[in-house]
Amino acid sequence: MSYDLVFIGGTGDLAWRKLMPALFQAFRHGKLPPRGRILAVARDDHTDDSYRDWLRERFRHVDFAKPVHDEEFARFAVLVHYLRVDLAQPEDYGRLRQWLAGAAGDLGSDEGPADTVVLYLATSPHLFPQICRQLGRAGLNGPGVRLVLEKPLGHDLDSAQEINRVVGSVFSESQAFRIDHYLGKSAVQNLMALRFGNALFEPLWRRESIANIQITLAEQLGVGTRGDFYDRTGALRDMIQNHALQLLTMIAMEPPSRNDAGAIRNEKLKVLQALKPFNEESVLRDVVRGQYRRGTVDGQSSPGYLDEASVPADSKTESFVALRTEVQNWRWAGVPFYLRTGKRLAAAEAHIVVNFRPTPHSIFPGANTPNKLVIKLQPEDGLELHLLAAKGSGESEALAPVSLDLDFDKAFAENRVDGYERLLLEAIAGRLNLFVRSDEQEQAWRWVDPILQAWERDNAISAGPRAYPAGTWGPAAASALVARDGFAWPEEQ
Ligand code: BG6
Repeated sequence: MSYDLVFIGGTGDLAWRKLMPALFQAFRHGKLPPRGRILAVARDDHTDDSYRDWLRERFRHVDFAKPVHDEEFARFAVLVHYLRVDLAQPEDYGRLRQWLAGAAGDLGSDEGPADTVVLYLATSPHLFPQICRQLGRAGLNGPGVRLVLEKPLGHDLDSAQEINRVVGSVFSESQAFRIDHYLGKSAVQNLMALRFGNALFEPLWRRESIANIQITLAEQLGVGTRGDFYDRTGALRDMIQNHALQLLTMIAMEPPSRNDAGAIRNEKLKVLQALKPFNEESVLRDVVRGQYRRGTVDGQSSPGYLDEASVPADSKTESFVALRTEVQNWRWAGVPFYLRTGKRLAAAEAHIVVNFRPTPHSIFPGANTPNKLVIKLQPEDGLELHLLAAKGSGESEALAPVSLDLDFDKAFAENRVDGYERLLLEAIAGRLNLFVRSDEQEQAWRWVDPILQAWERDNAISAGPRAYPAGTWGPAAASALVARDGFAWPEEQ
C-alpha cells in the first residue's frame, strides 16, 4: 500500500498543534506505514524546506512526551511536503491533482501515484461544501480517495444535513471519515474490549444490575482565544452533541455481531434512536445550563465567561451542561443516564461511572455502598472497580470500600497510541470503525435540536444559564438533578 496524506489547511492551528504532532508520534513509535507522503496545503508562500523549518519552530510549542531532537525531526521532515493552493481558485485544485499524480519516485515505487489519498479538511467548516465541490470537479473523488472531516459539522440538524448532502453528492459514505477525537482515545478501545472481549460484565450490563450511568467531561480551561467561536457554539454543541453522545452509544450499545464499521455503527445508531426525546417541559426539568463567573481554578484567579475576549457582555451562551436522559429499550428502560460537561470546572477529568444497584439484603449493618465501575479517560487511562471488603481490623463486621485499579499506561509498557494518532492511522488504513456515520451524526442533532430551541425561547423570558463560580462543579441545580433520583455525582459521594 502507498498513500498520500493531504492536510488542507496545512498552516492552521489544528495542523500544527494536533495533526502533525500526531503523525510525528506515529513516526516515532514506528507505526507510520512506509511508502507514504504528507502534504500540507495552504495559501501561504512556502517551499518544502521553509514549511519544514516553520513546522520545526511550531513543534517547540507542542507538549511532546519526550523532547524532539533536530536529527529525529529531520528524518520525519523528509516525508513532509508543501503545496501552495488557494482554495477559492478552481485551477489550484488541478495543481493538487497533478502533484498527487507525480508520486512515483518518492513513494519508493515505480508503479505510479499512491493507491490511497487521504484528504483531511483541517479548515474552517464553512468552507467544506465549497472545497468538496471543487475536489469533485478536479476528479479528486475517485475510489482511492478518503475524505476526513473535522467537527463542528453543522450547528443544528438542518445545517448538518446540508453538509452531508454536499459531501454525499461528491463522495460515497464509505469515503467519508467524520472525526470525533474522543473515539480515538484509548479508553474507548478499552471500553469495547471490556464489554465485548470479556464475558464477565455482560450479564450485569443492564437495568436489573445498573442503577445509573454518569458521563463527565470536565475541563479547567476556559474559552481561551476561541471566544468568538465558542460563543456561537456553547457546551451543548461543542461537547454533548458529539463527544458525550458518542461515549453514551459505546456504553449502551448491543454487542455488534462483528468488529466492523457497519455492525458497530448500526448498533450505535440504534442507541441514538432510542434516546428519550426532549420537549419544552422536559428540557426545563432535565437539562441544566450554566455559565462561569469569576473564581479560582487550581489556585489561580480566573475571569468570568462574560469577561473573556470576544464574548459579548450580555451573552447567554452556556459553558456548562448537565442533563438526564434515558435509553428507551428493554436493556436500559428506566435507568438514568446523566451527562455533564463544562469549562472552568473544579478538575480536568473525563470519566464514565457505572453505578450498580445495592445488595438486595445486607447482613453487614451500615455497609451498603453499592459497587461502581469507573472508566477513566483522562488524565489517566484506566479502570477502577469499587467493592466493599473486610477491613481486618478486628471487628468482624467492619467493611470498608476498596478499589481494584488498573492503569493501562503501566499495564502496557509499550508506546501507546492515542487520539489523533490512532484516528489518522485508521484513516490511512481505511477502517471506518472509529468514525461517525452521517445518520448517527444527524440523529444526534435531531435529539439535541429541541434543547437548543427550548433555550432560545427561554432566553426571551429568563436570564439564561445559571451562574457558577469558576473552579466549582457547576450550578447547584446540577447536583439537584441527580439528587432528585436519589443519586449523587462522584465527587459528592
Ligand atoms: C473539542 C472542543 O472538541 O474538545 C473543545 O471543541 C474541548 O472545546 C476539547 O476543549 C476537549 O478535548 P480533550 O481531548 O482535551 O478532552
